[in-house]
Amino acid sequence: MSNLRIMITGGAGFIGSHLVDKLSALNFDLIVVDNLASGHQGNLGSSARFYNVDITDQHLSNIFEQERPDIVFHLAAQISVQSSMKNPYNDSRINVLGSINLFENCVRFGVKKVIYASSGGAIYGEPLYLPCDEAHPINPLSHYGVAKYAVEKYLQVYNNSFGLRYTVLRFSNVYGPRQDPHGEAGVVAIFSKGMILDEPLTINGDGSQERDFLFVSDLVDALMKSIDVADNEIINIGTGRGYSVNYVHDELKKHSGYLLKTLRGPEKPGEVFQIYLDSEKAKAILGWVPKIPIEEGLRMTVDWFKNNLNG
Ligand SMILES: NC(=O)c1ccc[n+]([C@@H]2O[C@H](COP(=O)([O-])OP(=O)(O)OC[C@H]3O[C@@H](n4cnc5c(N)ncnc54)[C@H](O)[C@@H]3O)[C@@H](O)[C@H]2O)c1
Repeated sequence: MSNLRIMITGGAGFIGSHLVDKLSALNFDLIVVDNLASGHQGNLGSSARFYNVDITDQHLSNIFEQERPDIVFHLAAQISVQSSMKNPYNDSRINVLGSINLFENCVRFGVKKVIYASSGGAIYGEPLYLPCDEAHPINPLSHYGVAKYAVEKYLQVYNNSFGLRYTVLRFSNVYGPRQDPHGEAGVVAIFSKGMILDEPLTINGDGSQERDFLFVSDLVDALMKSIDVADNEIINIGTGRGYSVNYVHDELKKHSGYLLKTLRGPEKPGEVFQIYLDSEKAKAILGWVPKIPIEEGLRMTVDWFKNNLNG
């Protein structure tokens, strides 16, 4: 077993559970904190000690006291842009106040480093240039984006004032097996489920909006590389290429055999129209490049939904 003890908040969720799988295969000592708001305990193998606790809960300190983690991956969050627009108070309560509660405990119990899941898709706003690098102005269009950025700034203060080391990774649009298809986030999961179950589907807007789609195993590689390097750095994690929602829809349709005609609906407020991320810094500092081509990632995702939804 590696001698590092690692806590993953949000470890029962989509990205968190893939990270847990990877860390567990490498025999790290693992602790998962997740209130199962959107995650599932079934996503977790038996190797992690699981605490069904809300990150805003004052009793979080009991877990820190007992477990004394060395590294904390902070992925627990309210992840829906649309929910944040309808209920900014709740978004900020979980995403900002929950993060502060976590970082207070990190300082108090001597955590060596926090690796934080920020969002490249939500904090830059409508890009002034593409691909968006880390120096791009910050102009979030949603409350979710404001909260994600605020937490980056809190981490900088925790580092300056209390020496808490961090790496902020600004993820692009992550997709893959286990993504929740029931929420409002994650177009690949929503389409995959709908197509396999032959449900009517709607594309918001004309479908020409572009995103930087990153397969989850590539993201997990970047998270793993951040354990040892990139202290106090903010780094984009994306592919550097944009693909339209129409393209993704058509690829998924090909793999799933969907026959219904997809409807068109209005654009959603708070959503960026076109974004993809420059990840040259990730290459230079983490030695990270994405490996999975979008066509292969989408095919693997549809296959997973086929095997896991039917019945
Ligand atoms: N999926 C993406 O494309 C993407 C892009 C950018 C950033 N992110 C960030 O990555 C992280 C993981 O996202 P995901 O896509 O795996 O979503 P997810 O919803 O599957 O995972 C979030 C996890 O956090 C848990 N959680 C929510 N509120 C909690 C609370 N108050 N206390 C404890 N646990 C709580 C949920 O139960 C869930 O397991 C989030 O921080 C998200 O903002 C995701």
